[in-house]
Amino acid sequence: LYKKAASKEVPSFVLVGPSGAGKTSFLTLFANGTIAETYTSQEPQAALCQLPSSTRSKEDRYRSEHDTSSRSQPKFHLVDNPGHGKLRHHATTSILSRTSVRGLIFVVDSAAISSAAGLTEAAEYLHDTLLWLQKRHTQGKTTKGPASIPVLIAANKQDVFTSLPTGLVKTKLEEEIHRVRESKSKGFLDSGVGMEDDAGKDEEGDWLGEYASKEFKFSQMEEHGVDVSVLGGNVRGDGEEGGKVEKWWGWIGENL
Ligand code: GTP
Ligand code: MG
Repeated sequence: LYKKAASKEVPSFVLVGPSGAGKTSFLTLFANGTIAETYTSQEPQAALCQLPSSTRSKEDRYRSEHDTSSRSQPKFHLVDNPGHGKLRHHATTSILSRTSVRGLIFVVDSAAISSAAGLTEAAEYLHDTLLWLQKRHTQGKTTKGPASIPVLIAANKQDVFTSLPTGLVKTKLEEEIHRVRESKSKGFLDSGVGMEDDAGKDEEGDWLGEYASKEFKFSQMEEHGVDVSVLGGNVRGDGEEGGKVEKWWGWIGENL
């Protein structure tokens, strides 16, 4: 009975991130098993994917080792979105229009964020994305809220020799998100809004993570119901089959 109810809607994972990070390439590889040439995306697209038999799904944990009955690996939709600044509203629409979103995959180009401009762009977009999820969680607490959505930060293009290793991608993004957070709250004060007693101010509600903390850490998102993982890989490799993506498959399997 449970299985029947659960199979009604195919769950989805939503791809976001700056332009050129590799979202469409990610979708193509996960849906078709091959990589193809991509063009700057202008609208969202969805593709049906299936967990490979080598990847364990959450359901597998409850199966006995001796259970040899054939099982079909679960299916899910990947939803690709354009990364261009003016088209980012599509990503929120993609999430809101789906009832069974199991996770958000934020793709970053690990080489692009070794430049100051690339880092700032990724961190600002990630800050806004996480704040959106945080607010969604806060509002969800009072009403019968939507389920919380875990986030995978996919540190892509690890094959490029100028790319930062995954650990550094994580700390650089944390440091830069801290700066974004500070400057947003400062802008808030400078605007004079903070001077008035209440008029429309919600400084705490617009602060990402642990309020007034001196550092930003992704782990601060846990208390807001957002579980963040940073895992490295590369969609493109030497061959046609793409590069190293096992960790991302693993994360999808755990959240499917
Ligand atoms: P927008 O549609 O503009 O938001 O970009 P996108 O995130 O969809 O990027 P896309 O998938 O189109 O990839 C941009 C470029 O990066 C393409 O030339 C890809 O071939 C390349 N690319 C993607 N992943 C990798 C990777 O892991 N390694 C390398 N070397 N190149 C990659
Ligand atoms: Mg694209």
